[in-house]
Amino acid sequence: MSTKKAPRGTRDILPGEVEKWRYLESHARKLCRMYNYAEIRTPIFEYTELFQHGVGEDTDIVSKEMYTFQDKGGRQLTLRPENTAAVVRAYLENRLDALPQPIKLYYIGPMFRYDRPGAGRYRQFHQFGVEAFGSKEPSLDAEIIHLAYEFYQRLGISGLELEINSIGCSTCRSPYRAKLKDYFKTYLNNLCIDCQKRFEQNPLRILDCKDEKCRRTFTDVPALKDNLCQECDTHFTLLQQELTALDLPFIINSFMVRGLDYYTKTVFEFISPHLGAQNSLGGGGRYDDLVEICGGQPTPGIGFAIGLERVLLTLEEGDREYERNNLKIYLAQIGKENLPLAGEILRDLRNAGISCDRDYLGRSLKAQLRQANRLSVFLTLFLGGEELKENKVTLKIMSSGEQELVPLDLLVEKVKEILKGEVQK
Ligand code: HAM
Repeated sequence: MSTKKAPRGTRDILPGEVEKWRYLESHARKLCRMYNYAEIRTPIFEYTELFQHGVGEDTDIVSKEMYTFQDKGGRQLTLRPENTAAVVRAYLENRLDALPQPIKLYYIGPMFRYDRPGAGRYRQFHQFGVEAFGSKEPSLDAEIIHLAYEFYQRLGISGLELEINSIGCSTCRSPYRAKLKDYFKTYLNNLCIDCQKRFEQNPLRILDCKDEKCRRTFTDVPALKDNLCQECDTHFTLLQQELTALDLPFIINSFMVRGLDYYTKTVFEFISPHLGAQNSLGGGGRYDDLVEICGGQPTPGIGFAIGLERVLLTLEEGDREYERNNLKIYLAQIGKENLPLAGEILRDLRNAGISCDRDYLGRSLKAQLRQANRLSVFLTLFLGGEELKENKVTLKIMSSGEQELVPLDLLVEKVKEILKGEVQK
């Protein structure tokens, strides 16, 4: 334990970097407005049971990675490791299911997983995600995938691969599970310890294993997409047609099952060739049974989540304009006797919507000027000296070096006039 370090796997986002985050967030918000998704904010922690039920007890996320604790009232709570189950809970609790469907929502916020920290893998990380409820149509799958695609595309992230698969529904999955067991039975000794357990509990999860030894056994494994029921097969075919119509290039990855148990039919992932092992920049899928599992009426749903840290790792620095704190005015004081007046001037400027700052360290005039330059302000005001005896301040335009004496009672108006369009609203 240390009082000088943030907990392992977490990071501070400092001024300078925070502008990039704001840029990403505002990009996500604009896009969601375009696609008619409304923002939802759910609590950072939920009852543990929600994730056990929703995400699945056998998944790595629930069995190994949750930050679970008991509160002082004896409740079992968990810092959300993902937000789909929580949004489903909120959808039901707030009776959004009684409103005209589909309900289309988005969120941006921190998630928590106790995983081994590394490049692109954190214990507190941030997701931008969307969830849409109430429609089974493959065109909604296509819209959601397109939204994610546009998110990357408009940021200038190129070279991503979109992988899709269908993992069917409860009807087609049980005979497929039997087929898989039949197939892997002969390779049981070649599978890793985890997959030997998966063989008993959930053989589909074997397909998600990253162990090379296990993957070598996959050569002739039956693909789920060849074992889908009629409904799922049609859904998958229509989705592919929709994606093609949207000019969205994709690859079918028959091994992709994703790490959460709630998926049905469509699953997808955006893979970056530049990120090494943590190469998934975002992913999602359909979860047509999850609302019912969480206590609601059967209601289809689909969504995705994008890992914002990974997006930032991929973003090329370049000609992107991040919104910086553009301080307009620095007020330099000559002498200490005018400090209250300096406070008054700053108040009046700020009330007029003009950002300004001053020295609080009793620095010399020279040092104050250096600070004004460092802050790249537009104007510097000099308060004190002979001019103040005549109720005037000196105003300096930093770019040209031009100076002017301005009566105190006209100062705000004069500054506004100089800044014109630059005045912050
Ligand atoms: P997920 O695949 O577990 O899906 O996470 C989505 C994305 O979050 C990943 O592709 C990755 O970019 C990012 N991510 C996950 N874990 C970490 C980590 N430890 N550090 C940094 N980034 C990470 C879900 O969470 C589902 N709720 C997505 C979804 C929404 N499916 C349907 N609706």
